[in-house]
Amino acid sequence: MCGIVGYIGRNNPKEILLAGLKNLEYRGYDSAGIALKNEENVQIIKSIGKISALEEKINDIELINANMGIAHTRWATHGKVTLENAHPHQAGYITVVHNGIIENANELKENLVKEGISFYSDTDTEVIAAIINKFYCESKNIFKAISKALNILKGSYALGILVSDIDKVYAVRKNSPLIVGVGKDEYFIASDIAAIINYTNRYILLDEDEICELSFKGVEVSKDGMIVEKDVLTTDLISEDTSKGKYEHFMLKEIMEEPNVFTKTLEKYLNNPDLLIDLNKYEEIHIVACGSAMYAGMVGKYLLEEVADIKVDVECASEYRYKKVFYNKKTLVILISQSGETADTIAAMRKAKENGIDTLAIVNVKTSTIAREALYKLFIEAGAEIAVATTKAYLLQVLVLSLLTVNTAYKKNLVNLDALDEVKKLPMMLDEVLKRSADYQKIADTIYENEDIFFIGRGIDYAISMEGSLKLKEVAYIHSEAYQAGELKHGTISLIEDNMPVFAIITDEKNKDKTLSNVIEVKSRGAKVIVITSEDDLEKFDYEIIVPKVNKLFQSMLIVPVLQLIAYYTALKRNCEIDKPKNLAKSVTVE
Ligand code: F6R
Repeated sequence: MCGIVGYIGRNNPKEILLAGLKNLEYRGYDSAGIALKNEENVQIIKSIGKISALEEKINDIELINANMGIAHTRWATHGKVTLENAHPHQAGYITVVHNGIIENANELKENLVKEGISFYSDTDTEVIAAIINKFYCESKNIFKAISKALNILKGSYALGILVSDIDKVYAVRKNSPLIVGVGKDEYFIASDIAAIINYTNRYILLDEDEICELSFKGVEVSKDGMIVEKDVLTTDLISEDTSKGKYEHFMLKEIMEEPNVFTKTLEKYLNNPDLLIDLNKYEEIHIVACGSAMYAGMVGKYLLEEVADIKVDVECASEYRYKKVFYNKKTLVILISQSGETADTIAAMRKAKENGIDTLAIVNVKTSTIAREALYKLFIEAGAEIAVATTKAYLLQVLVLSLLTVNTAYKKNLVNLDALDEVKKLPMMLDEVLKRSADYQKIADTIYENEDIFFIGRGIDYAISMEGSLKLKEVAYIHSEAYQAGELKHGTISLIEDNMPVFAIITDEKNKDKTLSNVIEVKSRGAKVIVITSEDDLEKFDYEIIVPKVNKLFQSMLIVPVLQLIAYYTALKRNCEIDKPKNLAKSVTVE
């Protein structure tokens, strides 16, 4: 959610930290701050709003001559968006930036207040600073102070820490991502490698509760007082991945990248089919995820059940983690996550593991917690996805689920491998579909002034509708609902009014006539009907987009990009902040 970057080394920390924050802005963007340090001073500058506001403020201030610093971009959890609540927070010797939530912060704060300590913000982060400071004042040993503090903090954290009388930067994490970047005579911390990719592609993964000390000489990681040897890894992310290139928005850039990342992911699995595990050894599958990843899972459910004849339940991770789940020894839990850091999905994965259940992750970020902890992993090759609304990653999650379906069904003699000839043609077809922006703009022109929209479909088309509806809500701020087409008349149809847009998704042949009857029902009540379909022989309604018809295993992947682009152009017409929709953040690392 929030973003952290930290630096120590031979260069100007101000420039590096600001550049890092800009690359992280998509993770949280309601306020930001920076702490610069040299041997004598720690200077803190904070601002409300975007990183550009912080930059302006910094440019107006005389800065200390610093050689290290920490910085933060915030997505508010504890406490409103105010200057006081923006990070970094300072208590005595200690200055801290924090991602995550400390669950026992109120209780700890009450005790500290009783001891006479004052607080200036409503944040849990200030409590962390106060606790580490208290222990540091007692022992003057920073390792002891941090360890003691971590023992009493409950919840999740990634922390960047400065200590006024030590010329080093410290970092720790638990249930929140943080990596350590290794450059030449310069070292970094970052909640996401994207923050520092312009400076280094080498990094160390920190494990939970390891303490990392970054000095001018290098990086030392320890746990319980013992040095831990860490591997220095290399990422294939390149700095172009984190810039918009010729596009006005990351969302559009990432949609346009779909044919390429599709090819990359497809080739990987076609060349190494053994990577796709055989699901036939399981009796039932639980797909657990959040948001769009869960909707990708719903598409997967229809495919796996109908084509591979295997029972699948799809659950939202925030419910799954707390509900009674019936497992049997032959249950497989599939976790789907772009970031691999979604707190609820991580908790669902750990719950399955604690029950002795096999877990399989379909994930993009290879360094993420889910990628590291799941038993089996199938990586998608989406590269960096910066726009808050997922597009290309969703598509690839569906691709992997369809490949798993083919693999499983083939082993049961339910399909032959001809289907794979067709999937190879999809990148070309995707190209064609993406080129038709004028058609999508026309639809955006007709819906952008509406405040309520419905999406209807049956079977797999309902699953696709859910994603179409979510995209429109999150980027264009239009209230929309996805309904199973047959369910509409059990109440909801009373909301249909003259000129209300209703998107009908029609690809599922066996349900097509039934959905068409539902379309006629809404049309006769005044709805403006927009049909998105692979069928070219349908009755004509108000608007229609026909995509190439392919095997049902892959059809949704030609429909969803249309819905993504319609959401994009509608948001553009409504002047929305497309890449950073209000109240949202990429990678939801808190509950
Ligand atoms: C919607 C969107 C979110 C994510 C969800 C899960 O466009 O991006 O709904 O899909 O927050 O995120 P990951 O996939 O990172 O677990």
